[in-house]
Amino acid sequence: MMEEKFVLKLIDKQQIPETEPERQYYFMDIAREYAKQIAGAKGSPLTFHVSTFGCQMNARDSEKLTGILETIGYVEEDSEKADFVLYNTCTVRENANNKVYGRLGYLSGLQKKNPFMMIGMCGCMMQEPAVVEKIQQSYRFVSLIFGTHNIYKFAELMATAMENTFGPQRKKGSSMTIDIWKDTDQIVEDLPVERKYSFKSGVNIMFGCNNFCSYCIVPYVRGRERSREPKEILREIERLVADGVVEVMLLGQNVNSYGTNLETPMSFAELLKEIENIEGLERIRFMTSHPKDLSDELIEVMKHSKKICKHLHLPLQSGSSRILGLMNRRYDKEHYLELVEKIRAAVPDIALTTDIIVGFPGESEEDFAETLDVVRKVRYDSAFTFIYSKRTGTPAATMQDQVPEDVVKERFDRLLKEVQEIAAEKAGALTGQTLPVLVEEQNGQDERLVTGRLSNNATVHLPGSPELIGKIVNVTLKECKGFYYLGELA
Ligand code: SAH
Ligand code: SF4
Ligand code: F3S
Repeated sequence: MMEEKFVLKLIDKQQIPETEPERQYYFMDIAREYAKQIAGAKGSPLTFHVSTFGCQMNARDSEKLTGILETIGYVEEDSEKADFVLYNTCTVRENANNKVYGRLGYLSGLQKKNPFMMIGMCGCMMQEPAVVEKIQQSYRFVSLIFGTHNIYKFAELMATAMENTFGPQRKKGSSMTIDIWKDTDQIVEDLPVERKYSFKSGVNIMFGCNNFCSYCIVPYVRGRERSREPKEILREIERLVADGVVEVMLLGQNVNSYGTNLETPMSFAELLKEIENIEGLERIRFMTSHPKDLSDELIEVMKHSKKICKHLHLPLQSGSSRILGLMNRRYDKEHYLELVEKIRAAVPDIALTTDIIVGFPGESEEDFAETLDVVRKVRYDSAFTFIYSKRTGTPAATMQDQVPEDVVKERFDRLLKEVQEIAAEKAGALTGQTLPVLVEEQNGQDERLVTGRLSNNATVHLPGSPELIGKIVNVTLKECKGFYYLGELA
């Protein structure tokens, strides 16, 4: 016998508010009502799972999406058994895209077994028209696609997707809801947001990027740089602190250019000084710093701050001034090395980490040797190394002299070896000292241990109970094992 198909009863919408965030709160009520109907037909509460790829920006966006889903009445489910699976995608390198298509095939199998299942796709990959076209053609079971500029509209998009997927008007084959914007200058504040940890949180201070490094797709998929008003940032952090947060990570593609486009311009260093004054906040981290905009003023603030952590992520990309020019990075090898010297003079025990790309078009053995030279001079605590990935639409994609794959691979292996050797030599430098550790979680392997981080971001395991989670405690670092410390409460 055929089971009768569930049909959603649509709500007649009157007086939809035109301003944000009021409009979204209106749609949250509608979506909540729809979720109730669907859950009623299913016989249990609706569940969701958000899979996040890419950088801290995407991680923070996922927390916002989660906040809205929970407000609508969905319950988080850890595996992909969920009734709503949302992929928040990254497209910074080509191989990230291929993985997503593979996963979609797998999800379609799950959907065949669950008539109440919806699949959503969002994030940077969706800002590429060719990707959306491919999903429309080959993955017609996807219910909802949206991009990076309209995530604040998620409640409204969910209500529409539920109507299109389960309502009386649904079409045979595909009832995809698609909403992609090219760009926006709108920043909507005061929407519900979840966070992964109770005691630490990311805080967006700006969105987008204006730098157009010639290899990078981010400015095309995240739009132009927009800074949040300082008062909104401070208000958000104050609220987080009142809610138990002791550490914030300020997020932007280039935090050093924060505030230039505000009505009343403010520098990143000035913003940091204001954040430093928030009582109850213990630690401040930020990401990412572009070397071309790292000011002396910022170094001064870091030198005198009691809260800014002793860790700076300062992407190098290449050590060759010639390649840096082709990359449109707007600094050279000498400037980068001078910066490192200044920072180390101001904050002697700071940990430095970086990003390096190998095999940028035209990179010669001499250029690569310059990269190795910087790595040996700076001696990074750790480095993310990437093989150059050609992104269609970026200037580098059409440059002459793309480096052959085997040459790149060989250089990559040499770089990785160098980076790892130095990191191993540097790990353990603090053994014997007693330092504050923010305890973050119970150790996955040994439940008698908890795991936390030093100001310089190094990992520490120590005996202790889960009550310590979220607290900053003094720990004596007894020994270093590989890349982490073993310590004891002091
Ligand atoms: N805004 C940050 C970086 C964001 S992308 C910054 O400027 O530092 C993170 C890293 O991915 C970059 O630092 C770069 O090293 C790497 N990356 C970006 N585009 C890439 C590409 N086309 N191929 C390989 N790596 C890339
Ligand atoms: Fe990409 Fe450069 Fe912008 Fe970073 S600063 S996001 S590498 S364009
Ligand atoms: Fe990826 Fe988008 Fe971040 S492309 S690295 S998720 S800004």
